[in-house]
Amino acid sequence: MILIAGASGQLGAAIREAASLRGIPFAAMDRDALDIADPREVARVCDSKLFDCIVNAAAYTAVDAAEDHPAEAYVANAFGPWRLAMSGIPLLHVSTDYVFDGRAREPYGEDAPARPVSVYGLSKRAGETALLEGGFRGAVVRTAWVYSLREGTKNFCRTIRRLAHEREEISVVADQRGAPTLAEDLADALLALYLKGEHLKPMHLLHFTNAGSTTWHGFAERIVELEGARCRVKPISTSEYPARAPRPAFSVLSLERIRALGIEPRSWEDALEDAFQRLKTHS
Ligand SMILES: NC(=O)c1ccc[n+]([C@@H]2O[C@H](COP(=O)([O-])OP(=O)(O)OC[C@H]3O[C@@H](n4cnc5c(N)ncnc54)[C@H](OP(=O)(O)O)[C@@H]3O)[C@@H](O)[C@H]2O)c1
Repeated sequence: MILIAGASGQLGAAIREAASLRGIPFAAMDRDALDIADPREVARVCDSKLFDCIVNAAAYTAVDAAEDHPAEAYVANAFGPWRLAMSGIPLLHVSTDYVFDGRAREPYGEDAPARPVSVYGLSKRAGETALLEGGFRGAVVRTAWVYSLREGTKNFCRTIRRLAHEREEISVVADQRGAPTLAEDLADALLALYLKGEHLKPMHLLHFTNAGSTTWHGFAERIVELEGARCRVKPISTSEYPARAPRPAFSVLSLERIRALGIEPRSWEDALEDAFQRLKTHS
């Protein structure tokens, strides 16, 4: 049975659903049921010997707020995953493209040097290092630009869908490039890794995003189009949309290693279109 930590987040909810669909037994725990940074809670939940793998979707994800709350970010993103791994249960842990500085022009391989430019990125990198150097079993799966159309989730795609109907024009950053990734596709990939036994290997790094890349502006244009809205999407530069934490200008991740495992990410365009299609079918 797998233990899903952070089960009420956007990825956690997608993993829950994917596990149900695949008939994989799981226990889903939100922060109230399991605070991953609380050693006593981790011991209480993990000592039960019920679980053969932990899938960790719990994290402090407020990228801008992390600049002013580094302790909270490090507790959840560095200490938390280390605590989970210390239980001795193999771990599939999710990390981020924000461990890179964004100066590359080619997709980042797993072994490219990590140089985070934000507190969030630093805290996630500290989590990676604790796992990779701790002699644990499992995988650190980096991803990027995660979104879901699921009710109750907060992400770029859902914000643009709403604004597309509220505004005549929106301004969106056109000089940051990455790979929009459907939470449901990432959830599927994590469970595929579990079924392939990837969690039993010595701790290693993998990348999973949807394939291809675009800018936030390109992503927004496609969302507005699929939404059937008339809203104009104006390209702007990062300097015109100042944020508390710097973002990497380029954070496309190489997918060669995950492909070699027989997991083929579909294109971000196909994933987005499919997500809209499924939403229509279900409403
Ligand atoms: N979203 C993205 O674009 C993106 C990109 C790259 C990588 N990632 C990574 O993907 C993973 C999933 O992110 P997401 O988008 O699903 O984020 P999310 O929606 O913010 O979910 C994170 C969940 O973790 C919970 N959490 C925070 N601290 C915790 C703790 N100490 N113990 C237990 N649970 C805790 C949060 O609960 P509360 O809400 O109660 O705090 C929330 O339910 C994270 O590792 C993130 O770093 C995300």
